Amino acid sequence: MQATAKHENLKTRDKSRYAKEFLAGWGTMDFNGHMGNTAYLNLAADVRMAFFAEHGFSPSEFRRLSIGPVVKKEEIEYFREIGLHETVTVTYAVLAMSPDGARFTIENEIWSAGGERAAVVRSTGGWLDLRARKLIAPPPELRAVFAQVPKAPGFVELPPPARNMTDKARPILTDDMKRVIDEQRLGFFATVCADGSPNLSPKGTIAVWDDNHLAFGNIRSPGTLENLRRNPNIDINVIDPFTRHGYRFKGVALILESGPPYDRAIEFYRARGSKVSAFKEIVLIEIRDAQFIDSPAYDFGMTESEIRDRWAKHYAAIHAGKRVTSDPEIPEPASGIQ
Ligand SMILES: Cc1cc2nc3c(=O)[nH]c(=O)nc-3n(C[C@H](O)[C@H](O)[C@H](O)COP(=O)(O)O)c2cc1C
Repeated sequence: MQATAKHENLKTRDKSRYAKEFLAGWGTMDFNGHMGNTAYLNLAADVRMAFFAEHGFSPSEFRRLSIGPVVKKEEIEYFREIGLHETVTVTYAVLAMSPDGARFTIENEIWSAGGERAAVVRSTGGWLDLRARKLIAPPPELRAVFAQVPKAPGFVELPPPARNMTDKARPILTDDMKRVIDEQRLGFFATVCADGSPNLSPKGTIAVWDDNHLAFGNIRSPGTLENLRRNPNIDINVIDPFTRHGYRFKGVALILESGPPYDRAIEFYRARGSKVSAFKEIVLIEIRDAQFIDSPAYDFGMTESEIRDRWAKHYAAIHAGKRVTSDPEIPEPASGIQ
């Protein structure tokens, strides 16, 4: 679905996007007699600067603040040719942005004079402090103008930047969290689908990577992987089904496909006895928040060993082929396993 949408040549322009007309002049043409590839990138930059100027942020204002937009990655898809002196319409919309505006992915479409989508440019970038020559978050006045760029359908709010794995982050995973994960070897992972609906699926390869990271191996999780490539936010639940407590984690995923961290993870799983030939990507999750969770059974005064016994009996009954009719989770005090 996503792949089709990506390559689809849209028939009509979304009028809610900011747009500006330009002339495809002599200097934009290439040897083949149509608009050359670099001209598309220049038009995309022009429409972006025009938007800022029209919203009170002129090039001189950028100069005064010594800040400029920088592109880290750019992709162009072409659908139609543009000829000499054709008037093109170039649109501007945001596909993804972090709350502070420091990181973003934007989309500029180039529409032909005949109303056909000729190309789409997708750029991922940030803001450069022109004196310090380092990436920064935009100042509030620039952030306010940037926030007015129309958002594309399916706009994603990017999480704050992932910490470098070698940075000394405050440890989040406690010894007990690590123990539960290592004992249970099963977590439920929630990601966000393109239409905003949740996607929950179990991963038995869950593992503790370090004090701030968990991992799992992608063996057969196309939905989770597709979601994470678009939106790296992930929630995980790991629960001991006997003691009825465990942990919930919030994190940001990084998909490893090769390289030293990937090899290190594969070695880890091999040493753990996993059939690593079945593994595709390794998903590394930087945990940003962790909370203890327990069953409301504890609210009613039951001890951990009582609860564990109750569930041990429950599973023993199931394994013995008995039909369970009682409620082992929140029982009336007198009730028991049938
Ligand atoms: C107990 C259990 C453990 C699983 N562990 C993994 C795992 O570690 N990695 C994986 O890719 N799939 C695992 N799966 C399979 C996926 O959960 C399953 O293929 C699911 O449909 C994937 O959904 P998704 O594509 O939405 O992520 C496991 C399934 C179960 C029931």
